[in-house]
Amino acid sequence: TELSLIRNFSIIAHIDHGKSTLADRLIQTTGGLSEREMSQQVLDNMDIEKERGITIKAQTVRLDYTAKDGKTYELNLMDTPGHVDFAYEVSRSLAACEGALLVVDAAQGVEAQTLANVYQSIEHDHEIVPVINKIDLPAAEPEKVRTEIEDIIGIDASNAVMTSAKSGIGIEDVLEAIVARIPPPVGERDAALQAMLVDSWYDPYLGVVILVRVMQGVLKKGLNIKFMQGQTEHLVDRVGCMRPKIEQLAELGPGEIGFITAQIKEVEQAKVGDTITTVKGGATKALPGYKEVQPVVFCGLFPVDAADFDKLRESIGKLRLNDASFSFEMESSAALGFGFRCGFLGLLHLEIIQERLSREYDLDLITTAPSVVYRLTMTDGTTQELHNPADMPDPVRVETMEEPWIKAVIYTPDEYLGPILKLCQDRRGIQRDLTYVAGRAQVTYELPLNEVVFDFYDRLKSISRGYASFDYQQIGLRQGDLVKMNILVNNEPVDALSMIVHRSQADMRGRGLVERLKELIPRHMFKIPIQAAIGAKVIARETISAMRKDVTAKCYGGDISRKKKLLEKQKEGKKRMREYGNVSIPQEAFIAALRMG
Ligand code: GTP
Repeated sequence: TELSLIRNFSIIAHIDHGKSTLADRLIQTTGGLSEREMSQQVLDNMDIEKERGITIKAQTVRLDYTAKDGKTYELNLMDTPGHVDFAYEVSRSLAACEGALLVVDAAQGVEAQTLANVYQSIEHDHEIVPVINKIDLPAAEPEKVRTEIEDIIGIDASNAVMTSAKSGIGIEDVLEAIVARIPPPVGERDAALQAMLVDSWYDPYLGVVILVRVMQGVLKKGLNIKFMQGQTEHLVDRVGCMRPKIEQLAELGPGEIGFITAQIKEVEQAKVGDTITTVKGGATKALPGYKEVQPVVFCGLFPVDAADFDKLRESIGKLRLNDASFSFEMESSAALGFGFRCGFLGLLHLEIIQERLSREYDLDLITTAPSVVYRLTMTDGTTQELHNPADMPDPVRVETMEEPWIKAVIYTPDEYLGPILKLCQDRRGIQRDLTYVAGRAQVTYELPLNEVVFDFYDRLKSISRGYASFDYQQIGLRQGDLVKMNILVNNEPVDALSMIVHRSQADMRGRGLVERLKELIPRHMFKIPIQAAIGAKVIARETISAMRKDVTAKCYGGDISRKKKLLEKQKEGKKRMREYGNVSIPQEAFIAALRMG
């Protein structure tokens, strides 16, 4: 396709502002799918994505649109993941485009996450087309939102497109705005091939499918290609695009977005952001912006039923086929038996994988406390990374300990500011900036990642009734006074609950945790002490008193159906419990105990 007829764009939107609905409308209007096929949202194609209403994997779709000027344009719509955990993937998707639609809910206005993505988009020199969506809602205030876009984001919104993606209003205007306002790509057809690997995923029929954006040169079937970072060579056996159904093409020229397959078996070989060139006469310089992604949050996953270990291994292997960004290695724990230590890009990523394992593979799992990666400098001068609190060496051998910090931007209506500042302060936050725009506050904090991985986001949402939004980026390691806290149940350490905490927080954390465990662990025939300890020093203690005889007698006497029910309940309960020093701990207790009060 001629460069002047190509438009590559992404859609930036806060969760729920209507990105997927708008994308579906654009596909429908340009004839990509029939009405029946439209009955499901096509861009969000995983169950969990649908349920949680978030886009996890970037997808792309090519649309042919005959504009009012009579010319037919090739529009490549790049869908980007909508969560901070996937910020790098977002950056590569954006680098593949020349413009973006900024979708803002006419009733909700601009949110923090939108801001972060817009700024990224601006950094990529994108032309941004504001789209004010949901104008059909009674609470819609499009003019207020228009002003907000101008005041807060600082871009001209005088020609913002007004839409209702749901009712199909303004869709034609969006398409015309894309053609008229987003610039066509540039690139030389005769130059050495340079294509950016935007995304990759595993397809059971095609093997690894690679989404590419050709910058220079031409990608064709039969070409011997080379991944410049991965240092591997492959033979291209398919070239095509998605409409959103797969369509094979003869080639992808400069400026075009499409996919290739090249008999690649593992997504790990196809790294997001890599540069693809030809083996013969290839480019000498890789495209800028490549980064090796590293998991930042680690936790252990153990089967509740030890017999499920093989099934867990197999299931994790399958998920990993499609997601090179999470890591896993076998781990054994005294109390939990065999399981896996897994690394994730963030908490949401962790939850997604955990949910898929339990839902798609029907596994009952125990998840240990999520932990960030600490750097230890030992007294002998060596350094090591600590991914698992259980591996913490003897503190006398540790000279210093460093933890990762983040810079967080929180955006909230004024009335919730007080409790939000308190939350950040309680989490060892350092305030860096506080500004007010249009009745809302934008506050910037530096926070230890460790304080955020547990339940920061949940707390933020609950104290702001869902109105505050949150976005963060990592800013490096800082030294901290950190200690390992053990939890002992009936005098036996429960390694799944041990965690690294800041010394100033240890008492509070320890007390909270043992108090919650006291509620969560059922009574036994004997007294159970629950303790939090740092080394040999107990910092908090609770006791679960023994079950009284007459209580059981009462339960089991009389009514036979009630007795049966009780027994059944007990059986059900047993399946989901683990034994520690003769104490049965329900599976729920592990996660519930970690949620901070
Ligand atoms: P993520 O995929 O999580 O980023 O969300 P999204 O931005 O793709 O939002 P989605 O398209 O799933 O829409 C969220 C909700 O808003 C859905 O219930 C839609 O039906 C609804 N919605 C989308 N557009 C409109 C609109 O124009 N008017 C109204 N009233 N509702 C809309």
